[in-house]
Amino acid sequence: MAKPKKLFRCSICGSASEKWQGKCPNCGEWNTLEEEVMVEAPRAAVHAAQAREGVAIAFDDIAGQDVSRRSTAIEELDRVLGGGVVDGSFVLVGGDPGIGKSTIMLQMAHNLAATGMKVLYVSGEESAVQLKLRGERLGVKGRHILVLPEVMLERIQEQIKDIAPDLIVVDSIQSVFSGHIDAPPGSVSQIRYGAGMLMGLAKSAGIPVFIIGHVTKDGWIAGPKMLEHMVDTVLYFEGDSSGAFRVLRAVKNRFGPAGEIGIFEMKGTGLAEVRDPSGIFMGLGGKLPGSAVMATIEGSRIFLVEVQSLVSRTTFSMPRRTSIGMDANRLTVLLAVMEKRTGMFLSGSDVVVNVAGGMKVAEPAVDLSAAMAVASSAVDKPLPPGLVCIGEIGLNGELRSVSQMEARIREAIRLGFTNALIPKGNAEALHTIKGITLTPVEHLSEALALIRKGAKEP
Ligand SMILES: Nc1ncnc2c1ncn2[C@@H]1O[C@H](COP(=O)(O)OP(=O)(O)OP(=O)(O)O)[C@@H](O)[C@H]1O
Ligand SMILES: [Mg+2]
Repeated sequence: MAKPKKLFRCSICGSASEKWQGKCPNCGEWNTLEEEVMVEAPRAAVHAAQAREGVAIAFDDIAGQDVSRRSTAIEELDRVLGGGVVDGSFVLVGGDPGIGKSTIMLQMAHNLAATGMKVLYVSGEESAVQLKLRGERLGVKGRHILVLPEVMLERIQEQIKDIAPDLIVVDSIQSVFSGHIDAPPGSVSQIRYGAGMLMGLAKSAGIPVFIIGHVTKDGWIAGPKMLEHMVDTVLYFEGDSSGAFRVLRAVKNRFGPAGEIGIFEMKGTGLAEVRDPSGIFMGLGGKLPGSAVMATIEGSRIFLVEVQSLVSRTTFSMPRRTSIGMDANRLTVLLAVMEKRTGMFLSGSDVVVNVAGGMKVAEPAVDLSAAMAVASSAVDKPLPPGLVCIGEIGLNGELRSVSQMEARIREAIRLGFTNALIPKGNAEALHTIKGITLTPVEHLSEALALIRKGAKEP
């Protein structure tokens, strides 16, 4: 018999190498290569799910099937799932420790069990008693939720066969392992095998399967990136686990729009939906120096978020730039533009930018508010009251238009803002808007002039 070939796989990017190396040749991460145990079984499981008759058929002859969705009775969760739980879907829920992954899954299990579905909750991390304690706090009850405190995949598989559940939750994919694989739980081989087996189950039996995944210190879902490729939907919990608000984001969704977010508040009784969330990240709304408010689009909704900054004289030879909730490279570029194109001297100062409430803003429309917050902190003067700042900044300091400006401005008006600083390119389309004073600007220097006049610069 041929000796099985050894293969080493990166736990971050999933790329394979024939020999062990300290640094992954693909993604450059150190110490991430793990030996992969080659077995036929997981492939068989995946193939069972994917290979149909093995004959190509004409597109028109494929029998159409309506996607059947079930509401979880948690509107914010339904929203990120694209309208509810889809039969046969394979969903990964990731997030930091203690953020609320088990809580939301148990609440979902309760609601679906109440509609008569048989839900199997496989708990590899907590005992049945621990789960019961949490469940009692959340008001979970019912005979249709079956709890299985088990980590061995083969036994889980047997139970699934016996019980024939309508929905399965596995908490967590890192804790379960198979006896066929000679690798510890949580290793790349085990995660691949476990996910392959569960995917086979979801696809062949049409049972929706939710798996909970841990995240690494860098914020990746632990295990190869491939795990995210295998599943239909990736939901990701964001937010500060010490704060009250949690954001559940659909990072990937084969059954609905990606990028949609759900907002929850962590309470003693579980995760409560926030009904009108657009103002919850507004903080003090730009009333203090170093604070500016912008309107950002998340999925199908608009949120007003406070961007804060602190500019202080550096005590280092190289000034420090720290950004939380905004891309760090973007901030560095923005500060260079402010210095070069508007003459605001910042290279002697440490600069911190923070998006309030644990929110993350990835779109370039955040630029103007970040620049205004930095300038406001630098001169220690608050921005004009009731001001919202929206715009992308180019490398020459020019203001670039952003999409859906009208919707953003209407939301700002609804939340009581009276002034809007916007790119000139957006102004024309807004001439019918009433209830807010628009200040269109062409260049960042015009925007900064609003606070620099008469102020003492650093
Ligand atoms: N009595 C309580 N009142 C309010 N919030 C609570 C209470 N008990 C727990 N919590 C919240 O629930 C969180 C834990 O939720 P949960 O166990 O669902 O998180 P998790 O993401 O599954 O964590 P892990 O990664 O450890 O499994 C705690 O961090 C805390 O915020
Ligand atoms: Mg948990």
